[in-house]
Amino acid sequence: MEIKARYEGKVLVAGATGKTGQWVVKRLLHYGIPVRVFSRAREKAFSLFGDAVEIVVGKIQSASDIARAVEGCSAVISTLGSSSYNGESSPGEVDRDGVMRLVDEASKAGVRHFSLISSLAVTRWYHPLNLFAGVLLKKWEAEEHLRKLFSQENRSYTIVRPGGLQDGEPLQHHLRVDIGDRLWNGSINRSDVAELLVVALWVVAAKNQTFEVINDFEEVQAGLEPYYDTLAAMLNAPLR
Ligand SMILES: NC(=O)c1ccc[n+]([C@@H]2O[C@H](COP(=O)([O-])OP(=O)(O)OC[C@H]3O[C@@H](n4cnc5c(N)ncnc54)[C@H](OP(=O)(O)O)[C@@H]3O)[C@@H](O)[C@H]2O)c1
Repeated sequence: MEIKARYEGKVLVAGATGKTGQWVVKRLLHYGIPVRVFSRAREKAFSLFGDAVEIVVGKIQSASDIARAVEGCSAVISTLGSSSYNGESSPGEVDRDGVMRLVDEASKAGVRHFSLISSLAVTRWYHPLNLFAGVLLKKWEAEEHLRKLFSQENRSYTIVRPGGLQDGEPLQHHLRVDIGDRLWNGSINRSDVAELLVVALWVVAAKNQTFEVINDFEEVQAGLEPYYDTLAAMLNAPLR
């Protein structure tokens, strides 16, 4: 059965060759949305996606490479993530500066929506994960930059802060969403995080949301869009 596109416009995926990024691409293609991938490794991107996506090769350290990648895209989804303590794949280079550069260039190019993966506990400077080169603090700085630039008129952002990432098919769990970084632990499938990042392109209640998400219990889901209504209702409810 052909699925009608729910979003018009091309979406740039940064971090597409990663485990969550591959799910983002898969879910965008599932919805019939044109995808451009920004990768430092053409062979890796081509081996994963073939001709199904456009590939722009470049470095996240290069503003001009990013400018080429975002040109003509109406949305960006970033699942970038650091993998080494120092050097070009460190938290400072990727989770903070890389994402901030992507936000800057997307903003300059007139991108309308930016979905970002962050992490549970991102506001907690004392969290042990910060022993990995301050990774949560770096993600927090990037979040702040995105909120600042994409909360302006005619733009929007969605920041998803997942618990521990697991592999597995999407839509197999009832999810628990929260705001204010109050969840301490939990896990979630990368595929569900990808789905939340993707549906945020067209769900109005997802606009300008920052939230945490983990698995609640196993239960097949028809779709994840309603979780954004849950979040909107939480924002309007008195504080617990
Ligand atoms: N693991 C967890 O439990 C957990 C929990 C909460 C949040 N998160 C966050 O969720 C995000 C996605 O996680 P994941 O497991 O899907 O990550 P992943 O598989 O390691 O993917 C990371 C992506 O970032 C890219 N990247 C890394 N360094 C780069 C650089 N210097 N230049 C350009 N691209 C670079 C990788 O590209 P290459 O393919 O070229 O290496 C890859 O596409 C990360 O930000 C992670 O911190 C993880």
